[in-house]
This record gives sequence, structure tokens and C-alpha cells, in this order.
Amino acid sequence: MLIDSTYPKSFASDNHAGVHPDVLEAITAANHGDAPAYGGDRWTSVFEDKIKEVFGPGAEGFAVLNGAGANMVGLALMLGRYDAIICPDSAHIATHEAGAAERLLGVKLMTVPTEQGKLRPADIEARLGGIGNPHESQPTVVSISQATELGTCYSPEEIADLASAAHAAGLRLHVDGARLANAAAHFGCDLKAITTDAGVDVFSFGGTKNGALAAEAVVVLDPSLTDAVPFLRRQSLQLASKMRFISAQLSALLTDDLWRRNAAHANQMAVRLAEGIADVPGVSLAQPVQSNAVFATLPSAITETLRRRYLFHPWDEATGVVRWMTAFDTTPEHVDDFLDDIRKAAASL
Ligand SMILES: Cc1ncc(COP(=O)(O)O)c(C=O)c1O
Repeated sequence: MLIDSTYPKSFASDNHAGVHPDVLEAITAANHGDAPAYGGDRWTSVFEDKIKEVFGPGAEGFAVLNGAGANMVGLALMLGRYDAIICPDSAHIATHEAGAAERLLGVKLMTVPTEQGKLRPADIEARLGGIGNPHESQPTVVSISQATELGTCYSPEEIADLASAAHAAGLRLHVDGARLANAAAHFGCDLKAITTDAGVDVFSFGGTKNGALAAEAVVVLDPSLTDAVPFLRRQSLQLASKMRFISAQLSALLTDDLWRRNAAHANQMAVRLAEGIADVPGVSLAQPVQSNAVFATLPSAITETLRRRYLFHPWDEATGVVRWMTAFDTTPEHVDDFLDDIRKAAASL
């Protein structure tokens, strides 16, 4: 389907949004003359310094091109040849990366059914029984998403508890932070509070869903892992030759808390949408709204009517759950227009 400016705002994905003007400006500002390739440029030095400023002096940041690639590079650092990753069954690495982890990393995913998409320390402990048994894959990494694929968020304490459970068993904790900014905005905390301070070993910091063009960072907090990143990034096809334009985008998001302003706004628009459907007959929330995702249960007739005009994804056809996403550029008017149409569709049943 072609989307043009006459089409209503999409609620399908924060990836449908354009690029934040400050990020575009940063790209333009970097577009002067020549610069060394593959990260030897001054914009990449600035980005590396910003990562240390935001996540602490021990944090090493590596710019990459997309979220799935960030996951592959980050996870590859921690895996051996017969290893397994413990993750929620809703994890993006398990459901939406076309088997990249299995194929490219040669790893077994030990997927766990969860409440609200969130792994608990007991889920880790319950999956350690095969350690040392040569008949079983060896869990070495726990991977969670922040925010989760169901729009919920792990608090700093919940992350710290998962890190403790993982570390106690000799495993490392990886966070798919495609929407890390939305989680920090939800708690009103620093990015460092839900990563470095909580005991995470490796995580991705998502830029694309937060207003960038194609920019994510792999951030390594365990110093024993950093030396391998340049090689694994290259091998994973995630090393940008004109790196300055990727680094400049990430620095723009990390300057003056642009990441927070973008994420907090997207989150507020999700809350506005969730509050707006509270009194619509037949419509209910399927998950708590803690980031920029609203999961709602709708009669299929309402879903069909709305999908003639709006882009969004049915999440579970069997239960009638749909996913609506907001973005940094979703306006209150976009949400209110959508709510009007939801109410009209419900009234016409
Ligand atoms: C939680 C999560 N992780 C990773 C990704 C992958 O990002 P990309 O599509 O940029 O590879 C996505 C994309 O939707 C995501 O939602």
C-alpha cells in the first residue's frame, strides 16, 4: 500500500515515522568535505564520547545500521559453539528476525512463555538444569527487550534482579534496546539506570524508532568483550563505510536529551490513545501502556472498519488483539482523529 501525505497518520509502527529534523540537520552538518571511512572520523569520536557520558566511562559504543544487526553483533560477543540464549517467547530475536540468531549465530533459543512479555529471575533459574550435561545446549546469555515487544517495561530493580540471577549462574545479560529510550522515559530515569547501573553486560540503544534514519548502537559494558566487536561488526555486515552519518545521528539523539523528548512524547501519545478508548464499548486494553505501544482487544468488525483507513497490525487474530504504535511525530490531533473513528466504528456495530 502506498502511503502519501493525504493518508492519516500510521499507527502501525514507529518505523513508519520520518526522521526528526534535528537528526536530519546533524546529517547535513556532517556532510562537508571528506572524512576517513569506517569510523575513523571525528563524528564517530564524538559519538563514542557521548556514549561514555551517558552510560558511564566503562561503556564502549559501536554504531551499527539496524536493530536486528545490533542484536546479532551484541549476542555474538557472548556465545560459544554449543550455547543457548534464554529469552521470552515474544522476543524479537525469536519471532521477527527470520531465524537470524539460529542461522547466523548457530545458537539455540530457549524461549520462555511470559506474562506481559517480561522474563523473571525464576524463569532463568528453571532453565539451568542442563548446565554441564553434554547432551544439552549450554545457556550462556539471557536476552530481554526493553521496552518489551508487548510495550511493557522492566524497572531498574527488575533488570538488576535479572542480572543477578544471570550472573549467579555464570550467564550474561543482553538487552535488545530498540526502544530503550521509551523505557527510560516511562520511568523518568536516566538511560544508565536501566543498563550500566542495573548490571547489564551488553545492550543495543535504538535510534531508528526514536527519530533516526538508520542508526543503532551496540554498547558493551563488560570490558572483556570489547576487543571482539570491530571484527564481529564487520563480519555481521554492520560496519558502515560512511560511518560519520550514522554517528552524527546517534550523537544528535544523545544531545540535550533529544532521545528523551522524542520518547516521552511518543509515550504520552500512547497514553492519550489508551485513555481515549477507556469508554468505548467493546474495546479494552490488552496490556498495560508503559511505552509507545497500545495493545487493545477489539471486535473484528471494528478492526476491519478501521483498517480500511488506518495502518496498524492485528497482533493476535484469535483473541482480537491489535497493536497501535505512536512515534515522536504523532500529534494529539492524530490521536483524537483516530479515536473519533474508533468511536464511530464501535457505534455502528
Ligand atoms: C524490539 C525490537 N528489536 C529489534 C528490532 C529490529 O530492528 P530492525 O528492523 O531495524 O532490524 C525491532 C524492530 O521492529 C524491534 O521491535
